[in-house]
Amino acid sequence: MKKKWLFTAAAVLSLTLAGCGSDSSKDGSSSDNNQKKVLVMGTSADFAPFEYIDATKSDEIIGFDVDFANAVTKKMGYQLKIQDMEFNSLIPSVQAKKIDFAMAGITPDEKRAKVVDFTDSYYDTEDYLITKKDVTYDKLEDLKGKKVGAQVSSIEEDTANEIADKVPSVKVETRDRVPELIQEVKLGRLDAIVLEDIVAKNYVKQNKDLKFSTIDGVDNQKKAAAFPKGSKLVKDFNKAVKELNDSGEIDKMKAKWFKVD
Ligand code: ARG
Repeated sequence: MKKKWLFTAAAVLSLTLAGCGSDSSKDGSSSDNNQKKVLVMGTSADFAPFEYIDATKSDEIIGFDVDFANAVTKKMGYQLKIQDMEFNSLIPSVQAKKIDFAMAGITPDEKRAKVVDFTDSYYDTEDYLITKKDVTYDKLEDLKGKKVGAQVSSIEEDTANEIADKVPSVKVETRDRVPELIQEVKLGRLDAIVLEDIVAKNYVKQNKDLKFSTIDGVDNQKKAAAFPKGSKLVKDFNKAVKELNDSGEIDKMKAKWFKVD
């Protein structure tokens, strides 16, 4: 009896020790001796076709970023876990190392690059305007006196502010999630929203009362994953992406997700 107790105590002790040692590895990623190492990716699942939930099918997060991140992290020898949060929280969460990296169609810009490290970019988009179908804003000046929306802390918020700088009495409003913005345009509470091309096309496809138009003079937006400053994983990530590019796998994923039919 006593012997058995001792054995159990020893087993508990060794399990506890094993647990302590594997809480996090030197690069900050979670790992376990018996299980595959895990990387936690933060995303904002409101951005089809990059990351979204198709509630008619399941509550799973799907999209290009999900397939891409799964393939890349698998090549790096990790298992991927995805955590959904508001877009606004992604960069601060990477900075605070609450997640291992963020991928959400994020555009690497100077301000963000001060607090996180970006991988090589994997896609390019342009900003579009979404409006109701029955209005026409041919040129920026037509937005005079209008309410223009964008997602909080996104590059589109900057774009909307640039529009407000150029066009008199434009009012910029932000919302946390893209579907909220879409709802506000449909209800007439916002006159237009700024959204990336392929994402805008997807929403317009599902909302026949909306349309999109191009905006003159805005820069293209690249996309990259964001890691904590100094993370050694950036190099491995880029290497894995290069291999997947060379083998044509990424082109296949792009063909699957970046189409609007
Ligand atoms: N590319 C833009 C940015 O980095 C918008 C990305 C929004 N992504 C999202 N999953 N809602 O600011």
